[in-house]
Amino acid sequence: MTQYLNSIEVQNMTKKFDSKVVLNDINLEIKKGSIISLIGADGSGKTTLIRTLIGLLCNFEGKILTLNLDPKKDKNKIVQKTGYMPQRFGLYEDLTVIENLNLYCELKEASKNFDTLLDFTTLKPFKDRLAGNLSGGMKQKLGLACALLGNPELLILDEPSNGVDPLSRIELLELVKKMINKDTSVIWSSSYLDEAYNFDYSILLDKGKIIFKGDTKTIGNDYETFETKVIELMGGYRQKESLIAKNYHIIDHNQECVVLADKLSKKFGDFEAVKNNSFCIKKGEIFGLLGPNGAGKSTTFKMMCALIKPSFGKGYILGIDVEKKSTLARKNLGYMAQKFSLYSKLSTLDNLEFFAGVYGLSSADKRKRIKEILEIFDLEQYKNTITSLLPLGFKQRLSLGCALIHQPSVLFLDEPTSGVDVIQRREFWNHIKSLSKIGVSVLVTTHFMDEARFCDNISLFYNGEIIALDKPDELIKKANAKNMQEAFINLIKKAKNR
Ligand SMILES: Nc1ncnc2c1ncn2[C@@H]1O[C@H](COP(=O)(O)OP(=O)(O)OP(=O)(O)O)[C@@H](O)[C@H]1O
Ligand SMILES: [Mg+2]
Repeated sequence: MTQYLNSIEVQNMTKKFDSKVVLNDINLEIKKGSIISLIGADGSGKTTLIRTLIGLLCNFEGKILTLNLDPKKDKNKIVQKTGYMPQRFGLYEDLTVIENLNLYCELKEASKNFDTLLDFTTLKPFKDRLAGNLSGGMKQKLGLACALLGNPELLILDEPSNGVDPLSRIELLELVKKMINKDTSVIWSSSYLDEAYNFDYSILLDKGKIIFKGDTKTIGNDYETFETKVIELMGGYRQKESLIAKNYHIIDHNQECVVLADKLSKKFGDFEAVKNNSFCIKKGEIFGLLGPNGAGKSTTFKMMCALIKPSFGKGYILGIDVEKKSTLARKNLGYMAQKFSLYSKLSTLDNLEFFAGVYGLSSADKRKRIKEILEIFDLEQYKNTITSLLPLGFKQRLSLGCALIHQPSVLFLDEPTSGVDVIQRREFWNHIKSLSKIGVSVLVTTHFMDEARFCDNISLFYNGEIIALDKPDELIKKANAKNMQEAFINLIKKAKNR
């Protein structure tokens, strides 16, 4: 092993894309064997910093030493010694779980001892399933497992807990600690502040600059002050009223159940992903569909949008059978998929224009709505950017914007806030709550339990089945818990043990 004290040393590093400065005069030392959290608003430069450190982006000013190597010259050596989990699944969707692990082992010349990893990720029963057919959170776990292979000297995790359920999230850090040796340094980027608070050392990025680096506890020595300070450092809430809801018009109707799922079921081969799922969402109701990774939430969303055909059962929107009259149903529906599903080769503006066109907005409405969305979601700065190049949090904003463009009466939001920074998450919910007040019905899922309490009703899902359906406060009472996070964990553990 090479001898060095710091896993990372950065001096006066500046990175530009064209003429835009994305990282500005970065100076940094990361001691061997330390675990640090990297935090910052959407677009603050976290991913760019990570990619620069391991030589994936070489064109920078200043000096970087990673594992005592120069990333401009020794990229391959660095990559070999590093476990890197990119923000979005970097694996092969058309290979199975086990084939992905095997391939990574070969690339890393690592031993093929997957048992602990498969156990933790609960992927063992699905080891022969194509990675492309895993749920969002299961993919994250597989990505992490691959990054952990081969005893890396440096482990870089770019938002590893995005989309990972609350129960598994707690186990994530334990697993990482268990799998690495004492000299391995870990850089853990996260939009969960409670997670960042677990680490001794933090780096806070803002608009490409390091605005804090040091002991996490010096920001705040209890979690609440820490969260308040970080939000303040990131510029604070804008506390605007929701302009989206202000000019929004929904159609008149007198449906008791605006959204109705009637015994929805889905089988993939012999595997039952959703079993007999029924629920009714009233006008202006926010209905949360919560559950661990692989519970069947996205499958339910997809059946309700007529993107996949139920094996049994039916979905209705405003009384319209979604399968028989999908075009009509979709006119009343805004769907934000878990996986970014806009046109990645088109710009932000082109995507908005496209969806406005599909939903038949008049040119005056189109101009007005697009202007509003660009402004409200801070997308103006990325107006002409190809969407594949947007920071994750901005992709999410654009997806929500496109789902809202035709002012639908029903919104389906599949993890809308995954990868979105803490300030924007609050603002997303400000929009959602304001829209519900004017009568929009919302079906939403999230793994952030602080968001779950904004729902009027929650259906808790486990192994494709509803195990509880109630108001958040009632669920907390039933589970003998202090808050939603604890309620989720208690109820899921109970179902697991049954
Ligand atoms: N096309 C498919 N073929 C086989 N299995 C599938 C397919 N699509 C989904 N599944 C399986 O169905 C189960 C439910 O997946 P789904 O995506 O609905 O979960 P989820 O509750 O949304 O999870 P997450 O919180 O991770 O997003 C998973 O075990 C998944 O692997
Ligand atoms: Mg899902």
